Amino acid sequence: MSNSKEFSPGEIYEPSEETRKYAWVNNERIYEMAQDYLTFWDEVAKNDVEWFEPYEDVLDDSNAPFYRWFVGGKINITHNCLDRHIKLKGDKTAIIWQGEPENEKEKITYHELYQRVCRFANALRTLGVEEEEDVVTIYMGMVPELPIAMLACARIGAIHSVVFGGFSSKALRDRINDAESKVVVTMDGYYRRGKVVETKRIVDEALENAPSVESVVVLERTGNDVNMVEGRDVWWHELEEGLPDKCECRPLDSEHTLFILYTSGTTGKPKGVLHVHGGYNVGTHITTKWVFDLKDRDIFWCTADIGWITGHSYVVYGPLSVGATVLMYEGAPDHPQPDRWWSIIEQYGVTILYTAPTAIRYFMKLGEEWPKKHDLSSLRLLGTVGETIDPKAWKWYYKHIGNERCPIVDTWWQTETGMIMITPLPGITKLKPGSATLPFPGIEVDIRDEKGYSADSGELVITNPWPAMFRTLWGEPERFAKQYWRSNGGLIYYTGDGARKDENGYYWIIGRIDEVLKVSGHRLGSAEIEGALISHEAVSEAAVVGKPHEIKGETPVAFVVLKTGYEPSVELEEDLKKHVRNEIGAIAVPEGIYFVEQLPKTRSGKIMRRILLAIEKGEEVGDITTLEDVTVVEKIKEVMMARK
Ligand code: WT7
Repeated sequence: MSNSKEFSPGEIYEPSEETRKYAWVNNERIYEMAQDYLTFWDEVAKNDVEWFEPYEDVLDDSNAPFYRWFVGGKINITHNCLDRHIKLKGDKTAIIWQGEPENEKEKITYHELYQRVCRFANALRTLGVEEEEDVVTIYMGMVPELPIAMLACARIGAIHSVVFGGFSSKALRDRINDAESKVVVTMDGYYRRGKVVETKRIVDEALENAPSVESVVVLERTGNDVNMVEGRDVWWHELEEGLPDKCECRPLDSEHTLFILYTSGTTGKPKGVLHVHGGYNVGTHITTKWVFDLKDRDIFWCTADIGWITGHSYVVYGPLSVGATVLMYEGAPDHPQPDRWWSIIEQYGVTILYTAPTAIRYFMKLGEEWPKKHDLSSLRLLGTVGETIDPKAWKWYYKHIGNERCPIVDTWWQTETGMIMITPLPGITKLKPGSATLPFPGIEVDIRDEKGYSADSGELVITNPWPAMFRTLWGEPERFAKQYWRSNGGLIYYTGDGARKDENGYYWIIGRIDEVLKVSGHRLGSAEIEGALISHEAVSEAAVVGKPHEIKGETPVAFVVLKTGYEPSVELEEDLKKHVRNEIGAIAVPEGIYFVEQLPKTRSGKIMRRILLAIEKGEEVGDITTLEDVTVVEKIKEVMMARK
């Protein structure tokens, strides 16, 4: 262990005796014991998940970075999430679902969940979904049928690709086409802030140009009018009619693809991050159990939308594999009132809350009188994820939500890592607000400078493979191998995050060092938003930067060069915003669009976004000698002055 130095007094929060005593992990020696990481993962895999056939080797690194874990084993993640629980705790609640309308709710036991997954798996089979390369795109709001559809795919060995319900029809279409999906699962609509989001209508638009799609399954939820296309669209309940609620769990190879999930990178095209049954099951299971210290009595609420990796790993697969009760909430955090979350916690006795700093900052702004209206004493552990939490928000969360009793686990990870990688273990870790603390047992990380040497600050890297790691990018193995991995005394995974390590060996994440934005914790690429802007007829060039934002963390701001014949105007700005909304979704819409004559570029034509960000923030622009034309800086400043 690297934290040999004494902790300096001050901002340290130690685990209480009570927390330590009952925690799954309450001995610091776990880190030493996990140093032989292959033995560690072997033990976890043998003790915590069930295999149809044992694996021969823990890891095959002969074709790195195309690592294979638990080689030769046979498994199915849905067996571990469902079948193995129903014998002993079939009547335990697996999912508590709360709709946005207060009177709409549902409790689903493990046995019922098992039956509903089986029935829908059989339904998918009637549509010809079977073989491993079949991709089912799922585009839904937060209803139980969303995890049911995911688990049904997994059960029969099909691949799911969940697309976040907030993405536009164009973004959905791109993802369907990239995955060449045969089937789309969707719903008529869902509730958000009292209004119906018309999901099926968005799917219809997406499918105007998606030739691979043969069938669309539509869940009836809100009862709004939908257009059912003859021969293509079928109602969920009609498709299921008469089908059995048993469906044999297909034993699959450990490396069998479980899902792809698209995420943003530094190019305009989102990447399909691919995860597999075996390693992902092992990694999400043990992190759920140890990081959240999940016990049988707990009611676990991870507030993330299932459309993001946090929802995949910690609403669906991790907690169900552990056999926990999870809560799912359909709607907006502040509907009908700003205390909706707190009233849900009180109503259901939620014990563990896992959310994002952006939500905490929002509630902080609304004021502590809202949580104060409710009895939050059921809570015993809090978590955060998605971006760095500033100590002020950490302390607010600690005080006003956790009543100074609940440890906070600040968990660092990524879509690519599949599982939590840097995190406190609540029974043993001394917390420092703002630090994700230490790597999970069996995980080895480091910080590298530009030359690749170990340093106290620089880019965060992961130096050993881990079970829940992504295996490739869908259809882009070269991009996978080239973009993330560098060989430097073994293959090393580069995270794209800047970080620093303190005297206790604690990690402090500084933020993305590539052209990736975190807007309300959601990941968006500058290039992706720029691509959307450029696809508008009036735009010749565009550059997008992330401007610091009080609640969202960052918000996109765009600098746009218009084509000749177009003039800047308020109407055009609005039109461009609308265009980005249609191309990607509401989360990508720039807060401001500045019309400039030229973008700051190097002589080789690379846009210097760093300079734009400095101008936006009103900071010194620094070294501009590499610019092709240094006068652009002054000109852009003038445009911005005129606007402010
Ligand atoms: C990026 C990954 C996987 C969780 C949801 C986001 C940032 C994530 C933290 C944290 C500071 C964090 C990083 C990372 N991030 N967790 N606890 N502290 N930064 O997944 O969309 O793939 O984004 O989120 O920048 O690289 P994602």
